[in-house]
Amino acid sequence: MANISFLIDLVETSLIKSIQPGISGPGRQSFYCTEQGEGLTKLKSEPADIALIQSNRFSASDLALVKELNESTETEIIIFSDGKPNAYLDEAMFNGITYHFRAPFDIKNITVTLDELVEDLGEQKHVSKSAKKSVLDQFGLLLGSSKPMRKLYRTLRKVSATQANVFVNGESGTGKELVANTIHLVSSRANGPFIAVNCGALSPELVESELFGHVKGAFTGANRDHKGVFEQANNGTLFLDEITEMPLEHQVKLLRVLETGDYRPVGSDKTLHCDVRVVAASNRVMGENFNEFIREDLYYRLAQFPIQMPPLRNRGDDIVGLAQHFLAYRNMENGSAKSMSSEAVDMLEAHHWLGNVRELKHVVERSFILAEDVIGPEHILFDELASSETSDAELGIPLDVPLEDIEKIAIEKNLEKNKGNKSETAEKLGISVKTLYNKLERYSED
Ligand SMILES: Nc1ncnc2c1ncn2[C@@H]1O[C@H](COP(=O)(O)OP(=O)(O)OP(=O)(O)O)[C@@H](O)[C@H]1O
Ligand SMILES: [Mg+2]
Repeated sequence: MANISFLIDLVETSLIKSIQPGISGPGRQSFYCTEQGEGLTKLKSEPADIALIQSNRFSASDLALVKELNESTETEIIIFSDGKPNAYLDEAMFNGITYHFRAPFDIKNITVTLDELVEDLGEQKHVSKSAKKSVLDQFGLLLGSSKPMRKLYRTLRKVSATQANVFVNGESGTGKELVANTIHLVSSRANGPFIAVNCGALSPELVESELFGHVKGAFTGANRDHKGVFEQANNGTLFLDEITEMPLEHQVKLLRVLETGDYRPVGSDKTLHCDVRVVAASNRVMGENFNEFIREDLYYRLAQFPIQMPPLRNRGDDIVGLAQHFLAYRNMENGSAKSMSSEAVDMLEAHHWLGNVRELKHVVERSFILAEDVIGPEHILFDELASSETSDAELGIPLDVPLEDIEKIAIEKNLEKNKGNKSETAEKLGISVKTLYNKLERYSED
């Protein structure tokens, strides 16, 4: 079994002694910090699988470090504290800390937790070697056994138990919508409704009515009462997709309902109340100009629990595992038994996957359409996203394939080229955004 490494930055020697069995079993290695309090900093240069950090004065800079480590490493950070209320620590719990044990420490519980974590991590180290044969793990609707996915599952398990709003950020095609669905499914709201709305596609005239509903006669054409998405999602989950595509002047309308649950339908003088958990998503890169696309006050109301999706290229053997999964699915639907040659698998492994899981799924489906029995390298058509090596004319129009499939391939490729931006894609293809949505909807039902 592969070794699991511990970084230990604990104050009380008695605590170290009591948890010794948890950190020194077979397949476990521990490293101690020479200076108490340097653990988080040390992790930046010396990654460990698990870090045990004792801190009674968790500070703003500790929080910043935890956030940074959460983005750049896969370390499971476990904090031990004296239990005094600490707002930084509370925030850090949503940004990368796996467990927080408060004094007086329950050694038995700590040891069991460590054992479970080691088992979980060890299993995935072990699994990754033979993943080509094994079936991928699944959490909710998400598939994947890689380390970043396991970490995501742990986070999702934690957030699902709360009522916090969630902000999911990640590249196009990484599974943000599946995450929203999964949070709903594993939460106590699972029996309530799940309503998804694409914020980029709301027409400016109707945005308020779409969100909060309207009463009959509120405006010309309002022939009957209409329920907005907050009302439709009452006691359930509302997925505000592509929130950063909503114009800033419309975003302001969301603040009150997110703060209090209160809203007023257009044309009504009554204030209604809803109990809704909001999951919002964006594929804009978090960075310097992110705040041009989202109001800061709105971001903080949505990001009570921020989640960063790992890009597919960082998910190791999940790439092949997912490809095999998608292929198996097609085979089942078509009663066929097509397989993938090892050269094709090598190509998938070597690809950079800018379009993430969506691109992979499309590549597999295209290869399925194109291949007779065995999928070879000639059936693998990637999306030449930013690459200028292949001219558009060379994208390879498959022959002897139904026109409908060609249309689907064309739409998907254009969508990927435009990084999932639907308005841009529709414009380039000369169709309306609504038509594009209808077609995509149909494909997702296939
Ligand atoms: N972990 C996963 N397991 C199985 N299927 C996945 C996974 N992640 C993504 N997919 C599939 O990939 C496709 C894209 O996923 P999804 O729509 O959730 O991505 P997204 O991040 O919302 O993309 P975009 O930013 O373009 O809207 C879907 O068909 C989804 O079912
Ligand atoms: Mg999406």
